Amino acid sequence: VRRTTGGNYRKFWSFRVLDSRNKKFPIGSNVYALVGWRSHTVLNPEDFAKNNLFVLPDFGGLPISLGIGYLGMPGVAAYFGFLEICKPKAGETVVVTTAAGSVGSLVGQIAKIKGCKVIGFTGSDEKCRWLEDELGFDKAINYKVGKLAKALKAVAPDGVDCFFDNCGGELSSIIINQMNFYGRIALCGAVAEYNNESEAKLRSTHTTFILKQLSLEGFVVYRWADRWQEGIKEIKEMILEGKVKYRETIFDGFEILPEAFIDVLEGKNFGKAVIKV
Ligand SMILES: NC(=O)c1ccc[n+]([C@@H]2O[C@H](COP(=O)([O-])OP(=O)(O)OC[C@H]3O[C@@H](n4cnc5c(N)ncnc54)[C@H](OP(=O)(O)O)[C@@H]3O)[C@@H](O)[C@H]2O)c1
Repeated sequence: VRRTTGGNYRKFWSFRVLDSRNKKFPIGSNVYALVGWRSHTVLNPEDFAKNNLFVLPDFGGLPISLGIGYLGMPGVAAYFGFLEICKPKAGETVVVTTAAGSVGSLVGQIAKIKGCKVIGFTGSDEKCRWLEDELGFDKAINYKVGKLAKALKAVAPDGVDCFFDNCGGELSSIIINQMNFYGRIALCGAVAEYNNESEAKLRSTHTTFILKQLSLEGFVVYRWADRWQEGIKEIKEMILEGKVKYRETIFDGFEILPEAFIDVLEGKNFGKAVIKV
């Protein structure tokens, strides 16, 4: 099983242990590791830290592929990045970009559990319907339609308190300029900038940062390495209790990798994009 998105698309694997002389990694267990594209790999104890290797916990019957989605790195990023940096309070307005991806769709659902009003930006009407009808977002906006500042103002007339940004580029600057006083922004990803050869049309946000006294904090998920299993346990419980729904876009076979990656950059995935090998 394989994850394919973002700047780290080459690395993340969930493997089954076929042979082992290390009791911490018994034969038959599933492990998560940061290694290159491959069908088999040999890992030594001294590589464990370097490869971010750990045994996947019991998923309570949920699919093992979630180990690279909601119950893996993207899930931990959504859970801690949102709760620890945005510090949402009930009644606040939360905006999330790339809202139909694995990180964004989980952030939005956690924000609903916390009693917030949730607005998501994504790239198609079909994804907007999924976010609103199935995941409970209050509003989803197709960012390809245009007039985004006006569209956001219409659904968040009282402004934005928390912004979880997976996107960067022009859309982020539009949202930042509609933040409320003391708003909190978590910078998680910059998918709009990964493949951008043209100069981004960025609007200045400096004045907004100063006048609204905003806090912006970037993060790398491994900041919470020591709380990783706590995050996964919490998310697993939310799924098993039916409070959080997940969706995966599964591509079959190693050879489909380039096509799958292009599909992700074109926004064809709902939730986590996974390659099954
Ligand atoms: N900081 C960390 O530690 C950390 C940890 C995990 C993930 N991340 C980052 O978080 C982000 C989300 O991760 P993910 O795994 O959930 O990925 P994802 O949302 O599944 O990423 C793919 C989605 O990005 C959107 N997209 C592609 N090109 C775009 C563009 N030019 N402008 C706007 N949206 C575009 C597409 O959705 P649409 O249809 O909506 O356009 C596509 O489905 C990524 O940037 C990733 O690198 C960071």
